Amino acid sequence: MSSNPSQHKKRTRIALLPAAALLLVGGTVFVQSTGPAVAAETTLRAAAAKAGLFFGVAASPGRLSSIVGQEFNQLTPENDMKPSTIATSSGALQNTGAADTLVNHAQSNNMVVRGHTMVWHSQAGSLQGANQATLNTFIGNALTRWGNRIAYWDVVNEALEDNNTGRRRTQWPHTLNRDANGDGDFFDSTDTDVIRDSFIRAKQVVQQNSLSTKLCINDYDVEGLTVQGGTANRKANALYDIVRTYRQYIDCVGFQSHFNDNPNSIISNDLQANIQRFADLGVEVHLTEVDIDDDLSNNDIGQGQADNYRKVVRACLNVARCTGITVWGISDSESWRSSERGLLFTGGNGNYQRKAAYTAVLDELNKGRTISPTTPPVTPTTPPVSPTSTPVPPTTPPVTPSDPPVSPSVSPSSPQPPAGCSASVSLNSWTGGFVATVRVTAGSAPINGWSVGLTLPNGATVSNSWNSTATGTSGAVRFSNVSYNGRIAAGQSTEFGFQGTGTATGITPTCTAS
Ligand code: XIL
Repeated sequence: MSSNPSQHKKRTRIALLPAAALLLVGGTVFVQSTGPAVAAETTLRAAAAKAGLFFGVAASPGRLSSIVGQEFNQLTPENDMKPSTIATSSGALQNTGAADTLVNHAQSNNMVVRGHTMVWHSQAGSLQGANQATLNTFIGNALTRWGNRIAYWDVVNEALEDNNTGRRRTQWPHTLNRDANGDGDFFDSTDTDVIRDSFIRAKQVVQQNSLSTKLCINDYDVEGLTVQGGTANRKANALYDIVRTYRQYIDCVGFQSHFNDNPNSIISNDLQANIQRFADLGVEVHLTEVDIDDDLSNNDIGQGQADNYRKVVRACLNVARCTGITVWGISDSESWRSSERGLLFTGGNGNYQRKAAYTAVLDELNKGRTISPTTPPVTPTTPPVSPTSTPVPPTTPPVTPSDPPVSPSVSPSSPQPPAGCSASVSLNSWTGGFVATVRVTAGSAPINGWSVGLTLPNGATVSNSWNSTATGTSGAVRFSNVSYNGRIAAGQSTEFGFQGTGTATGITPTCTAS
């Protein structure tokens, strides 16, 4: 988000969300409902975990009160991992103490960390003006400094221009871009694209170091399909084209979700549909910096704001691959936009009071996911970056939703045990590769964790996975829950996925509950 709150003019708009979506499994479409929650959880993190997503908060070392670990299971350093703090002009690291404090706090409170952020025009500090080689050095240093202690990293932040132009920004680091053939984009193999080249570098580092860290692109005013007045959200469309084109390097998309009454920052009716279309590309979607201006509900920090929070949380819950929500601070008074009173608590200095918005979010999370995804993800057409290759621009044309041919198939579910868990797999295969989406369902009793084993055919290997911790890459492989999706209520489900090379036809998953 622009760090200047004053640019947002005040207008009012309240959104509605579509009520239903469909689940496609093995060619069969059905509506899935989880029914009423078994027992209401009393913290945001517990309710979110039960629904299969994380609920996080932006934090600084001076604000690590007990509420952080009690209410949230994900943490984003609000400022302490930005280049202005940790980067030298040569891309080396410095002053990592505050970031370490936050990572340690997260780890001891069983919270997932989002690294924020590497390539950004703002708060760049000594990195400002760096060339791609230096950016690449910094990317490598930042990724390897914390390794798997960081689950998600914002590799590129706010690459797109304001005011719904749909264009890239023009200030550094985007001054590195070259549109070699003058066709108006930076997607061609002869073009230079700081987004592509930064993600290629990041993906190489992840693969060379066998990291499970997921690589995200993050932006604001990209939340809805439309902006105020029903105009197409060109910024969201531009982000979609970037993710679709560079899908093989990008694992996750962050919608900052600083909702206010700027015409391009409203909560539109089509928020869920936009989350869904990104999810259908196979990436995880996160709402990464949520605050909701009280003016969106006529200067009301009560029920109106609570209803808006409810709508936003519901839109995420209704898309299975929307796997996390992060609020940008604990309390209104400590927010970067305190005048908007956009968060879930009042108070400060460790003494916080829940707002109506808090109760609404907790209640909505406790309802769980009522709807599952619509279509199988579009799969990347190119193999993962080879650990030994040097960065090369992709030479393949942009992936389109209908290309490559996607042929969903479902292997038989393991028998439904009375308790424990079962797993079924849905495969999208193409020549030389596949994406497997695995659904884990608890039996007649709730479970606290799960582990799914399966044996890949000869020649098949796992190259990437999400929503699970993978062990092994060929032959007998195993996927275990991560911190936010281990707990599943009786009869309810969560999903994880993995991408592989070769063919996975006929794989049969076996689920073990803990
Ligand atoms: C903000 C912080 O909250 C402020 O403390 C700081 O002064 C400016 O940056 N988009 C982002 C975040 O990606 O990094 C910004 O954080 C808010 C907008």
